Amino acid sequence: MDSTASPDAGIRIESFLGEGEERSLAQDALDGLTRSFKELPPKHFYDSRGAELFERICELPEYYPTRAERSILDEFATELVELTGAEELVELGAGAATKTRVLLDALHATGAPVRYVPMDVTESMVRECASELTRVYPGLQVHGVIGDFERHLEYLPRSHGKRLVVFLGGTIGNFAPKPRRAFLAKIAELLAPGDHLLMGVDLVKDPDVLRAAYDDAQGVTAEFNRNLLHVLNRELNANFEPSDFEHVAMFDPEREWIEMRLRSRRAHTVTVEALGLGVHFGAGEEMRTEISAKFTPKRLQDDLAVSGLDLVRWLTDPENRFALTLSRRSGA
Ligand code: SAH
Ligand code: TRP
Repeated sequence: MDSTASPDAGIRIESFLGEGEERSLAQDALDGLTRSFKELPPKHFYDSRGAELFERICELPEYYPTRAERSILDEFATELVELTGAEELVELGAGAATKTRVLLDALHATGAPVRYVPMDVTESMVRECASELTRVYPGLQVHGVIGDFERHLEYLPRSHGKRLVVFLGGTIGNFAPKPRRAFLAKIAELLAPGDHLLMGVDLVKDPDVLRAAYDDAQGVTAEFNRNLLHVLNRELNANFEPSDFEHVAMFDPEREWIEMRLRSRRAHTVTVEALGLGVHFGAGEEMRTEISAKFTPKRLQDDLAVSGLDLVRWLTDPENRFALTLSRRSGA
């Protein structure tokens, strides 16, 4: 663990990423590229270029989730702050924490001291958002955690009063159903009586609207998807030619999730030097790079229930595109 503290500025940053990270990518790549249906987990999208591309996705006309979630926060932030009495925000996959500011504004307005604990795998995002937020909110304590929420949740700092765990952007939808429930159960363990989880979920809707959100006209999402190949080239000495792969976004109507894939335009073999691996792609072969599950109230309720969480509030935007859910540990 690597730790830097600058108490004057109210910032402390801890990193749990290191040597192990390349191992994690290498393991995921070895596991995913040797399957008959190739697949890579989405957390590797987000190097600093991936994070920038994601920021651009959030501004796209087709990508409604960011605007919808922000409109819900605008409407309900004050009520959420009152209801939860939060003294600390712990945000998983915080990214640039742009929407989080709506909550921080409402908290700041109460005048009570607040601690903000952003966790993200992208180091630059944690560092930048820590310095930016302490500048905007004088007196705010920021304890940034650079880490993988699937592996480092237990290293989050000990609670500083009433906790609100924040998990926005519909990122929970990027887990497959079983791991999603296991992850929610781990989040539940972060909650003491009186603590809450505020989580954003994208909702089932017209497949054309969903598909467009993941396949924009400007091709930013396609670039984001192919960024994974740049990451593999750099980190594992692979020789993917990104332009050999076409971006595919499809809606699976049965499972009600969007799948992002990369489709090989031709038959060819890629070498992943760090793994000593040759990977053959057939012409038209598709590799899955992400799922993004869409929710109904029932799906969310079921997931929460088996994970030891009770739904307290279900808040949506006027067009019912996205939901912000507030829950707490069952029996708490
Ligand atoms: N919360 C922001 C960003 C969502 S994008 C928003 O709502 O707009 C998903 C974010 O989660 C990215 O910043 C990415 O770097 C981070 N992320 C993805 N997988 C992660 C993991 N396993 N551990 C920690 N952060 C992760
Ligand atoms: N959590 C976001 C989502 O599922 C991530 C995302 C948006 C994404 N657009 C993407 C991931 C395109 C990969 C490709 O909506």
